[in-house]
Amino acid sequence: MAPMVRVSTLPMRLLALRQGCDIAYSEELIDVKLSSTKRVVNEKLNTIDYISKDRAVVYRTCEQDRNNVLQLGTASSVSALKAAQHVVNDICAIDINMGCPKFFSVQGGMGSALLSKPETIKDILTTLIRNLPVPVTCKIRLLKTDQETIDLLKIIESTGVSAIGVHMREIPERPKDPAHWDRLATILANSSYSVPIIANGDIYTHQDIDNVLNQTKANSVMIARGAIRNVSVFSKDKSLKSFHQIIQDYIQIAYEKDNLFPNTKYVVNQILNENDETKTEKARQTSVVKSMKDLCTIWEMTNQYEQFLNPPTIPILMENQEENDQTKSEESSSTTTKKHTIDETIQENIKTKEPSIKRFKSKEEDQEPPLPSIS
Ligand SMILES: Cc1cc2nc3c(=O)[nH]c(=O)nc-3n(C[C@H](O)[C@H](O)[C@H](O)COP(=O)(O)O)c2cc1C
Repeated sequence: MAPMVRVSTLPMRLLALRQGCDIAYSEELIDVKLSSTKRVVNEKLNTIDYISKDRAVVYRTCEQDRNNVLQLGTASSVSALKAAQHVVNDICAIDINMGCPKFFSVQGGMGSALLSKPETIKDILTTLIRNLPVPVTCKIRLLKTDQETIDLLKIIESTGVSAIGVHMREIPERPKDPAHWDRLATILANSSYSVPIIANGDIYTHQDIDNVLNQTKANSVMIARGAIRNVSVFSKDKSLKSFHQIIQDYIQIAYEKDNLFPNTKYVVNQILNENDETKTEKARQTSVVKSMKDLCTIWEMTNQYEQFLNPPTIPILMENQEENDQTKSEESSSTTTKKHTIDETIQENIKTKEPSIKRFKSKEEDQEPPLPSIS
């Protein structure tokens, strides 16, 4: 699943993984903001939280959030490294956003602003790769010509990244403009890479996944709006769930992981938007709902709401840094195993160079216990 601001928070990542997604990227997190957070072990939720000074959860992860790739927004190798080192024990890989065209990103030299600065790209990626024990990837957009895009891909490949995501649109193009599968096909027909290329753009169905892999010869796919529309697009057996069922599953996980209510509401509204379901009574009620309890009522989950035992938990910042550090080093032994697995998986796949949407599949995947279902 692609990085999506406000959507790719922990509940949506867990839901995607549960459906069969191999890797769920986080939303973009700005380096400076992430660096200023405090790491907190949330024993009540069994999560690791990164909390800002104003006590907001900036990043939350947990054991089931396997193969977690954290996407950074950055314009500098120094800030990127500081942020990455801060979270490195709790993630499996770092991705650098080189595609966001929004004013906030571009005026700060981040996102798509990086695409015209190959020296900065090289500096950021090589610094991270040299200093981090986890794989580093990046996500770009198409440049004006195929040759410019090939040149950029070659520069990025030479830094030693573990994968490159290609959003098959140019910087000025908006989501409603069709993604250029044909252009990535031409690019990959005329150049080859030792790193996996991940195709992104306008992939909504299981058939689209097959079609884009066949047409472009990319190694893997990354899905954004298609995952919002129906996250079961990741299912390996190609079965599709109803959006109603998906909303219920999402609400349950959001509750279990104590997701911020406005974020939960936002994602449910996004699912409705992507399904053209904004005119129904349920959608109208959802757009104005003010509490989790009422959201559960709208989506016929009143019984489940009453069974939810955990009251919302505000993580307690640890007073004792020594204790925190101790926990961190104990925690890191389990995450190290996870990191090693994804690193090995990427390396293996690079060696075989087989196009596969399972490129990053964790060897631990089959052992993951299913999330509890509500009866
Ligand atoms: C709600 C939303 C939020 C997004 N946030 C990010 C982001 O944080 N980082 C990023 O690299 N791209 C972001 N994108 C772009 C997507 O990752 C993806 O490149 C784009 O939507 C094209 O894929 P699609 O056609 O499957 O939607 C976002 C897209 C959407 C719809």
